Amino acid sequence: MAFVEFEKVSKIYHTGTVEIPALRDATFQVEKGEICVIVGASGAGKTTLLNILGGMDTLTGGTVKLDGRDISRYDRRQLTEYRRRDVGFVFQFYNLIQNLTALENVEIAAQLCPHPLDAAEVLREVGLGERMKNFPAQLSGGEQQRVAIARALAKNPKLLLCDEPTGALDYVTGKNILKLLQDTCRRTGMTVVIITHNSALTAMADRVISIKSGTIQSVRKNEHVTPVEEIEW
Ligand SMILES: Nc1ncnc2c1ncn2[C@@H]1O[C@H](COP(=O)(O)OP(=O)(O)O)[C@@H](O)[C@H]1O
Ligand SMILES: [Mg+2]
Repeated sequence: MAFVEFEKVSKIYHTGTVEIPALRDATFQVEKGEICVIVGASGAGKTTLLNILGGMDTLTGGTVKLDGRDISRYDRRQLTEYRRRDVGFVFQFYNLIQNLTALENVEIAAQLCPHPLDAAEVLREVGLGERMKNFPAQLSGGEQQRVAIARALAKNPKLLLCDEPTGALDYVTGKNILKLLQDTCRRTGMTVVIITHNSALTAMADRVISIKSGTIQSVRKNEHVTPVEEIEW
């Protein structure tokens, strides 16, 4: 059994009388400890897929299992618990609380979990040892994204989900963030899923899933993973 299992997952959004099929029979697996990059054009269904995996959206049909648990049958309360304990999220816009320091932003998320890591320690690991007392507005975009990553990691989650994590960052800063994600995956053995529309980033992945118009086009294991610092785009 794989760590993440999608089995014929479909998602239809209803807007008024219009039905929008955002996912069609999506089937794939991800192994524990892998970096999985999901690539596809805008509107392909990437965010829908990630939101279902993260327990933020429900599915229309099929089955989703994480670590042997059928999360697609969870009720609202179980999903809340699942989001809190098992999943770390990193978004394009960092979603930090503006009137809390970097340290407090990380601590407050960790407080919701049963086995959190030390917030200060995790901030040091993402390279922000000297900036813990700063508020988000006093940090650069890249530093704010590091805080968001620390916040996700401090939960000590089973799964780290990243939706276009470099979408708001310049080239060099974005590259450093991806390197941090790759290094973190290698160091901690955490399973990391990264969504992108940039196909160059597939080189950093252990597994590449490409999606088009809600349909999984291919699932491929990457035998020659490239360190992020060697990827150019
Ligand atoms: N909440 C929603 N209500 C209606 N349609 C949606 C909603 N979320 C996404 N969609 C539609 O589903 C499709 C897939 O969207 P999305 O998963 O956001 O794609 P991507 O992240 O790859 O850009 C698009 O056609 C989008 O307009
Ligand atoms: Mg999206």
